Amino acid sequence: MKILILHGVNLNMFGQRDPKHYGTETLEGITSALTDLAHELSVSIDSFQTNHEGEMCERIHSAHTDSTQAIVINAGAWTHYSLAIRDALSMLSIPIIEVHMSNVHAREEFRHHSVFSSVVRGQICGFGTQSYLLGLRAAYHAVKHAPT
Ligand code: DQA
Repeated sequence: MKILILHGVNLNMFGQRDPKHYGTETLEGITSALTDLAHELSVSIDSFQTNHEGEMCERIHSAHTDSTQAIVINAGAWTHYSLAIRDALSMLSIPIIEVHMSNVHAREEFRHHSVFSSVVRGQICGFGTQSYLLGLRAAYHAVKHAPT
């Protein structure tokens, strides 16, 4: 099973950025925890981070042809307004899980809305690094138990 992990704008700054909301874990630390869980589940993961919206769309397009079976995405602030990324995700028919480190619903009003809501299987937020690990488990189960 092949699962794509996508990290959007500013998420390369985890570890230094706003520890009250994001803790002190770096993106490398998150990737390492995901890699350990991937081994446990016997799945292969590919992680990608970009600060460029077009590059994120192009990586999502590649999922049509690189045998990706599910996506776990934290798009950062793009979550709240990027219709381009929403449209790119909507072209795929594989399960997509939206994750956030912080509880976006307990923060500023503009973070309460996700433009991805109608194209993702579900959203996990508020659990720090665990949001990603829960997201990977959710993606794994969605593929494993997909109706045939
Ligand atoms: C975030 C929440 C977003 O509102 C914010 O813009 C981020 C990080 C999170 O992981 O909690 O960049 O996606």
